[in-house]
Amino acid sequence: MDIICNGLGFQYSKKTEFAKYALKDVSLTIKSGEFFGIIGHTGSGKSTFIRHLNALCEVQEGSLSVGEIDLSPEKKKGKKKKEYKKRLKDLRKSVGMVFQYPEQQLFAETVFEDVAFGYKNFNEKPSAEEVEAAVKGALSLVGLDYNLVKDKSPFDLSGGQKRRVAIAGVLVAKPSILVLDEPCAGLDPAGKTELWALLHHLHKTTVETIIVVSHDMNDVAKHCTRVAMFSDGTLKRVATPSELFDDTILIEESGLEVPVTAFIKNELLKNGLEIKTDYTDDNFVEQIVNLYKSRQV
Ligand SMILES: Nc1ncnc2c1ncn2[C@@H]1O[C@H](COP(=O)(O)OP(=O)(O)OP(=O)(O)O)[C@@H](O)[C@H]1O
Ligand SMILES: [Mg+2]
Repeated sequence: MDIICNGLGFQYSKKTEFAKYALKDVSLTIKSGEFFGIIGHTGSGKSTFIRHLNALCEVQEGSLSVGEIDLSPEKKKGKKKKEYKKRLKDLRKSVGMVFQYPEQQLFAETVFEDVAFGYKNFNEKPSAEEVEAAVKGALSLVGLDYNLVKDKSPFDLSGGQKRRVAIAGVLVAKPSILVLDEPCAGLDPAGKTELWALLHHLHKTTVETIIVVSHDMNDVAKHCTRVAMFSDGTLKRVATPSELFDDTILIEESGLEVPVTAFIKNELLKNGLEIKTDYTDDNFVEQIVNLYKSRQV
């Protein structure tokens, strides 16, 4: 399912004195299969953009389609409104949304019930066996032992486990696109590493496309295939991480931090040492070793 938007614009509190553009003329295609990053300063429109992807924000200006589902405003008028509402359900089944601190939305008495809720939301009158199989599958996907956690209160789990349960509650609907807003916020370094590993595992196995909002440029350089940079509601650039971090002028203007690898690369350059790298840790180390070896000759 490709995501295609053209000229997308959005104002909160539209037609009131508080109206303000949170998105302006955003045109972007995210292809099925991408591990796509979204970056930008606070208030730049990242969350507003991703909220459009499962119609939590309705398209006001421009067009947006997710796979076959056209979310453009003109498609919702008159008779088509009813049909649109039906398709919203399909959309929300296909696009799983993991909000910031998703564990704050856990509510049920047991882990089982919490994850099952996500399944029942999208499947009419499922049998008990179906629900059990779906919950088991989703918990195992996020690396939790079904028998150990199913009867526990979600609130008795560790922070990282809670977040996994919350993600399982989204995965249980078997979305093809998974959108996560700052999924690593508040996790310790080990928790972050585990979560990225989980996302890669999901990307390889069950979820076609991953879209992740992140403030951490090291993570973006390491994990994303392409990145969109937002600034003040507009889309500044869409590029691979290496193209983006090569663009030193843009990065400097944006005031965003750069990955450690980009920082050291630029420091080396100031000292007359130039290396080419894609800014991932492994590639960077390899390039430094090559540089060292070449200077030994
Ligand atoms: N519910 C809302 N009502 C009114 N204005 C909002 C609302 N949500 C966001 N905004 C405004 O819209 C703009 C874009 O906000 P958005 O939350 O999309 O930014 P963001 O890039 O996700 O920021 P952050 O990194 O802080 O999460 C900001 O000016 C913000 O103040
Ligand atoms: Mg946000």
